[in-house]
Amino acid sequence: MKLSRVGIVGAGQLGRMLALAGYPLGIRCMFLDRSATAPAAQVAPILTGELEDAAQLAALAGASDVVTFDWENIAGSALAPLEKLTKVRPPRAALEVSQDRMAEKALFSELRIPVAAHAAVDDEETLRRAITKLGLPGVLKTRRLGYDGKGQFVLRSLAQIGAAWAAIGGRGLIYEKFQEFSREVSIVGARSATGQSVFYPLSANTHGGGILHYSIAPFVNRKLERAARIYLKRVMQALDYVGVLTIEFFVVKGRLIANEMAPRVHNSGHWTIEGCVTSQFENHLRAICDLPLGSTRALGHTAMVNFLGKMPDRELLLAIDGLAFHDYGKEPRPGRKLGHCTLLKGSTMERNSALTKVLKLIEWS
Ligand SMILES: Nc1ncnc2c1ncn2[C@@H]1O[C@H](COP(=O)(O)OP(=O)(O)O)[C@@H](O)[C@H]1O
Ligand SMILES: [Mg+2]
Repeated sequence: MKLSRVGIVGAGQLGRMLALAGYPLGIRCMFLDRSATAPAAQVAPILTGELEDAAQLAALAGASDVVTFDWENIAGSALAPLEKLTKVRPPRAALEVSQDRMAEKALFSELRIPVAAHAAVDDEETLRRAITKLGLPGVLKTRRLGYDGKGQFVLRSLAQIGAAWAAIGGRGLIYEKFQEFSREVSIVGARSATGQSVFYPLSANTHGGGILHYSIAPFVNRKLERAARIYLKRVMQALDYVGVLTIEFFVVKGRLIANEMAPRVHNSGHWTIEGCVTSQFENHLRAICDLPLGSTRALGHTAMVNFLGKMPDRELLLAIDGLAFHDYGKEPRPGRKLGHCTLLKGSTMERNSALTKVLKLIEWS
């Protein structure tokens, strides 16, 4: 059967870029989201309602050949009924694992993928015990629903336990040993139902306050790239994955430590829109629609810079040669991802000097 109607749960910027990538292929996306003015609703039809509303999810599934996600935190119990109505890709198990930082780390460990030493925390007593066992500094995180550095507290001394608890205390936390990384990198790849898989070059990611500020790609390091591909492939195979999957890593002493995974297209893969033969968005659609996967070859050297909290001056940025501009159509709010730009250049030197120029024109708020 030809799969051309894609239902997407969540209508944020990821969904918007999926819809835009679908048009040339004759793939039509339809969304479910709370807001009729969400980023993806500005470019494709939308059903409005809560993301876990059973009736609206069923309506979306009924109008789609395959259902996928712009947001991975939909409860497994809300997704299960959809599997009887249509194809759900990536598989529910992949979403469930990535919804819980403990489950995610357990899967990585099972697959012999290194992770930071960690322990589950449910009260101040278990936090004390975790700190005694793992040491300081460390990061206390909510196991579920954290994103862009939200739901995290870095502990550098025992005296901060009270403050950490006041900030994010409660049941369902994880304490991780702080990783003194030299870099953060991520790998994005896609797998089809037949087991074909493709991998993008590594991206090196710079965060501020837990949120991605900018990425450069390809980040060329053969040893790290080889390891990242092996790890991503192991996770894909274990989950019988279909679609795009991302893993974020810390580079510690020249080795990869897996931080987290995302069962979807990823911010650190936005550079692939202009920077690769086939973007992560197109390859996600190709994978879930049973189409052959496209080449992930890089077309040059790129930098992707997020617009956070405030949109920059479009005219000034567009005057920079090789710059592509993306506005997600969102209302500005402090810390909110509103858009991004990508620089595509022929050499790392040209890329780096253009990036310096762009960073001078951007203010993260
Ligand atoms: N154990 C850690 N050691 C050092 N830095 C960390 C650790 N955990 C998180 N961070 C920093 O915070 C950022 C966001 O944390 P992450 O676990 O990826 O959560 P989110 O779901 O918010 O992206 C990371 O990219 C990294 O810069
Ligand atoms: Mg992260």
